[in-house]
Amino acid sequence: MICMENMGVIKRIKTGIAGLDQLISGGVPVGSQVLIMGSPGAGKTLMSIEMLYHNAKLEVPSTFITTEEMKESIISNVENAFYAFEEFEDILEKNTIQLIHKPIIDDFKSRENFEKFIAEIVEAMNANKSRILVFDSLSSLRTVMPDDRTFTRSAAYMTEVFREASLTTFITMEADPKQDIIRSGIYGTSMFDGLIKLYINKAVGTSQYMIEIPKLRNSAHKLSDVPFQITSKGFDVLAD
Ligand SMILES: Nc1ncnc2c1ncn2[C@@H]1O[C@H](COP(=O)(O)OP(=O)(O)O)[C@@H](O)[C@H]1O
Ligand SMILES: [Mg+2]
Repeated sequence: MICMENMGVIKRIKTGIAGLDQLISGGVPVGSQVLIMGSPGAGKTLMSIEMLYHNAKLEVPSTFITTEEMKESIISNVENAFYAFEEFEDILEKNTIQLIHKPIIDDFKSRENFEKFIAEIVEAMNANKSRILVFDSLSSLRTVMPDDRTFTRSAAYMTEVFREASLTTFITMEADPKQDIIRSGIYGTSMFDGLIKLYINKAVGTSQYMIEIPKLRNSAHKLSDVPFQITSKGFDVLAD
């Protein structure tokens, strides 16, 4: 017998990037923990901000945690790249997107300190009733952890807490998605519900930004690599 209770329509958070939503059957299931993995400059930060911007325009509040880059640098980057995002400044002012700089420090070797850091993030999110979280980036956490195992365990703890809080989360990580994916151990675990890979394809003569979605639980998603452009109006994912 088919269990009808499990057949309800899954609630999704739109990324607001038309071509991307098309690739993932309309959006990311609410409460998903999604890893955005990409080489430097492949668009991780800009793509995450754009998703928050579109949601803010729909009155969906969010928090953007930056661990490395300063807030001012992120804002000027976004305003330069996406100068058609006319409401961006207003959205920041109204705190619909809450931008927080929270450096990763050596003290996280102590599990207690790390757990406190995560608790502070969840608490900060209550301030504007955030439903979406971006954590940019996980890479710096590796540098303060003694080994891969502790790093993976800490990342798993983090996603567990965010999942428990029903937060739809995007966590960025700097890595060459074509090479580091197996070595990085982190993907071998089931802590992430989804994986978005961003990279720059240099094999075709002219460089081309590419996106690939190898995994997204509860979603019929396309598997092929798709090119994209970064335009003043945002990401243009060239899905067919
Ligand atoms: N005004 C712009 N127009 C087009 N592309 C831009 C603009 N500003 C930045 N970019 C592109 O976006 C990239 C930076 O994206 P970012 O999201 O910061 O990358 P990541 O976070 O993956 O390192 C730059 O390397 C550049 O190629
Ligand atoms: Mg970045």
